Amino acid sequence: MIKKDNLYFPPEKFKKSAWINKKGIYQEAEKDPIKFWEKIAKEAYWKKPWNLAFEHKAPYFKWFLGGQINLAENCLDKNLEKKKDKIALIWEPEPVEEQPRIFTYKELLKEVNKAANALKKLGVKKGDRVGIYLPMIPEVIISMLACARIGAVHTVVFSAFSPQALKVRLQDTEARILITADGYFRRGQIINLKSNADEATKETKVEKVVVVKRTKNEVVWNPEINFWFEDLLKNEKEVCEPEAMDSEDLLFILYTSGSTGKPKGILHTCGGYTVQSKFTGKIIFDLHDNDIIWCTSDAGWITGHTYAIYSPLLNGATTVIFEGAPDWPTPERWAQIIEEHKVTIFYTAPTAIRMFEKYGAEIIKKYKFSTLRLLGSVGEPIDESAWNWYFAEVGKGKCPLVDTWWQTETGGILITSLPGIGPFKPSFTGLPLPGVKIDILDDEGKSCPVNKEGNLVILPPFTPGMLRGVYKNPEKYLETYWAKYGTNTYFTSDGAFRDEGGLVRIVGRVDDVLKVAGHRVSTGELENAAAKHPDIIESAVVGIPDEIKGEVPIIFAVSRKEKPEEELKKGIIDQIKKEIGPIALPKEVYIVEDLPKTRSGKIMRRILKRLFTGEELGDLSTLSNPEIVEKIKGKMQNLNGKNKS
Ligand code: WT7
Repeated sequence: MIKKDNLYFPPEKFKKSAWINKKGIYQEAEKDPIKFWEKIAKEAYWKKPWNLAFEHKAPYFKWFLGGQINLAENCLDKNLEKKKDKIALIWEPEPVEEQPRIFTYKELLKEVNKAANALKKLGVKKGDRVGIYLPMIPEVIISMLACARIGAVHTVVFSAFSPQALKVRLQDTEARILITADGYFRRGQIINLKSNADEATKETKVEKVVVVKRTKNEVVWNPEINFWFEDLLKNEKEVCEPEAMDSEDLLFILYTSGSTGKPKGILHTCGGYTVQSKFTGKIIFDLHDNDIIWCTSDAGWITGHTYAIYSPLLNGATTVIFEGAPDWPTPERWAQIIEEHKVTIFYTAPTAIRMFEKYGAEIIKKYKFSTLRLLGSVGEPIDESAWNWYFAEVGKGKCPLVDTWWQTETGGILITSLPGIGPFKPSFTGLPLPGVKIDILDDEGKSCPVNKEGNLVILPPFTPGMLRGVYKNPEKYLETYWAKYGTNTYFTSDGAFRDEGGLVRIVGRVDDVLKVAGHRVSTGELENAAAKHPDIIESAVVGIPDEIKGEVPIIFAVSRKEKPEEELKKGIIDQIKKEIGPIALPKEVYIVEDLPKTRSGKIMRRILKRLFTGEELGDLSTLSNPEIVEKIKGKMQNLNGKNKS
């Protein structure tokens, strides 16, 4: 890489072979973004061309109206002519003694078609919602593509989510079919997923549960409603006509945390999502025929949907997925996977990068990573030191490092510098993509000057792959994204600023959402979970900085009864495991007498956070109970002292 001042640029050789290496594309897109996206859309295969590119009836918008398309057909059939025997998918199991499973494009198509036919036989029709609660095994991809092929709407739920979290999602979507597994391996243990699924499907509309045999552990079986995935596929035909989907037909629903307790079902549609995922993967990861991409995200998150699955397949590349934890059974597992599968593009989160760094440079020295040619980061701001380490030690100073900003709602990456152009600046995410119009606004709605922090917004015509709504909740859609600056301006809930060169730096969320190891968790969700504990009256959750995870929650809880604190703390943690799962466990629980509140009863989380970070507490006169702040402070110091000794 070429360094000029504090900026990096790609070397000539990389530039030369990159899909995009001339800045002209930015001007072209800016002149007429709708026309630009139309040109991009033509790179996908449409069963019927659209007759209107863009329609805006704020707060709603649509793309490629009248067009018909099928995502699975674009991922598989359309690659077959040239890529029949090319490897589409490499699956790395967690146990090291087990062999990887490898699928060519042709083999993957066959499996998808069989699964699609099997779903049809179970009664699944176009528009029906199908729940998918699977670990990172090939069947998660096969199931998603099978849904897309027949026009069923998939809702993938992260396998580490608790039964209760799954239940809420199944209830909201009213899915009648759930695809799950007997279990999966995690850090050497078998997790019994089927029993979670059984618990979750009570009080839902799920009528049939399809089970992939993965770990062969014993499961409770109800032959009337349980079906083995492999049995269903065994006698199915290997062909299945892809459904002609209207561009604006629903493709999938993916739940994400907002600032309230209830997760929101984000809606994505067929045409726009296909176009944007194909295009962004191509220009940002520079996906070529011989690329092997490993995006470490689970399929349960949007990053897994778009860059572990759909975008690599749409671009005819090879995708690597991994069942386990990147540091299991040894801290170098992730490095071994890169070497063994000759990964060329590695896309992960800052939390993983910081963990790799912590394990030490010794590991890194053993690996040359000679196949790597591009690195990516996503999910939370990457600090300068993690950026530099990743760039130097993993990329060996020769790979462009794209820090990609986006959200579940945007469907694909919207801000990052392009690998064949640059510039790359540590801790800055970069420039908005061609065809993406953003701004950074102050609270009055005025555009912020250079270096001034404000709120990141996205402006019309938005992008084809952005959300089309919140499932069954138009009020939430309006209120979350379009209330702050009016219905023509999408509010991202992220704070950001721009440098002199227009590069964007993301500062972090401005709402009550935490990013814990890159996962999005709302304080409201955690507080609701704690409130279900019979002895807890109320609680407040705040995020505090963490060396590895970026941010972690801590809870202040007020209890109804005098009970041993340890018992209460454990009870709260168990309650969170039950309601959400282990992804967002609090680092610390403080049992307190009361919470700092304004006279109108609003809990002042900001003050609690400052107690932790040591910042000035500010004006306490607006509180109805200012004396509580000192008490909480005393308690925290006490406990921290104890923990240290
Ligand atoms: C939030 C979205 C789709 C990406 C995976 C997470 C934060 C995401 C970056 C980045 C700084 C980032 C934002 C955003 N975020 N990427 N490169 N730099 N912050 O998707 O769970 O919907 O979370 O993640 O705060 O709003 P998500």
